[in-house]
Amino acid sequence: MRNILVTGAFGQIGSELIPALQQRYGAEHIVVSDIRMVPLQAQVPAPVGAEQNYEQVDCTQPQQILEAVRRHDIDTIYHLAALLSAVAEERPHLAWSINMGGLYNVLEAARQYRCRVFFPSSIGAFGPSTPRDHTPQVTIQRPTTMYGVTKASGELLCDYYAARFGLDVRGLRLPGLVSYVAPPGGGTTDYAVEIFYQALRYKHYRCFLGPATRLDMMYMPDAIRAMIELMAADGGRLRHRNAYNVTAMSISPEDLAGEIRKHIPGFAIDYQVDPVRQAIADSWPRSLDDSVAREDWGWAPRFDLASMSADMLARLAQKVTGPGGIGPQGLDPKGS
Ligand SMILES: NC(=O)c1ccc[n+]([C@@H]2O[C@H](COP(=O)([O-])OP(=O)(O)OC[C@H]3O[C@@H](n4cnc5c(N)ncnc54)[C@H](O)[C@@H]3O)[C@@H](O)[C@H]2O)c1
Repeated sequence: MRNILVTGAFGQIGSELIPALQQRYGAEHIVVSDIRMVPLQAQVPAPVGAEQNYEQVDCTQPQQILEAVRRHDIDTIYHLAALLSAVAEERPHLAWSINMGGLYNVLEAARQYRCRVFFPSSIGAFGPSTPRDHTPQVTIQRPTTMYGVTKASGELLCDYYAARFGLDVRGLRLPGLVSYVAPPGGGTTDYAVEIFYQALRYKHYRCFLGPATRLDMMYMPDAIRAMIELMAADGGRLRHRNAYNVTAMSISPEDLAGEIRKHIPGFAIDYQVDPVRQAIADSWPRSLDDSVAREDWGWAPRFDLASMSADMLARLAQKVTGPGGIGPQGLDPKGS
């Protein structure tokens, strides 16, 4: 085994993928990179010695990726750097440059140095003309957001590099991810993280999506396991290399609020719908069919709504309200 490069590693996923990769493959084999210059220890609970394995890499700069891959003898790239759905709608030109330009640069570096690549697609790769319930693995993909355009195009570009250059590119269409380590980066499903913090702090959350907006979600430990298991799977069994539907639950804000209320009696939710994020959510599937991932590489989630909510509240209770907790200072008491 050689070494693994993770781009965009200081984000919501990278903050938990890095320790999982370090544990599985050894810290000395994992190279952490992001455009952000953040002290490694502050973001990622890295084992001693891993500081040497940080590289500042802007994925829109092909030379920086090539240099990192060459210098660290990389054979696998987890390419996480991207702008998420809500941010991409605010800054569509930048989103194209980072999401598509960055992916192209990563695939080119992988082609030159024969690396394997993991590419995280999204439920955003679907659009309003896609069947919204039990969305099949292969179906209509006409997304109407810039984020979705970059994810659907990214899937195609990965297919092209696999077919044309024989590159081992694999990927997942991830649903909204719920986690407690790092904050979400500006997606349409961020409410499903914010709600836990605000429930513990104020017993109240003001949600930016309407009460019945049903979307696929997954708890981060399942998502991290899915990424690592897909990359470790027997390639000969993968019929859909780089865009597997995966999901764990299909839930709405009122479902999540009801579950939280079982732990925090009196928790209240109200709604102030953000038309931009609501329109994005309304263009996405309500529930994915992930049976192909289950058949091809044995995918199965371990957390459902009840077990995820119980674990989130237990983990966050210490962070938010316990000794040394971050408390309510400086936060929007109404949620956002
Ligand atoms: N979090 C989710 O719910 C979710 C769901 C589906 C798919 N995904 C995909 O997974 C990937 C990671 O998502 P995340 O939630 O960790 O995102 P995030 O916004 O939390 O983190 C993205 C990271 O990329 C970095 N970045 C931005 N521009 C960069 C550049 N030019 N070069 C290098 N790094 C740059 C940022 O500094 C940030 O640390 C993205 O491709 C996203 O589309 C995420």
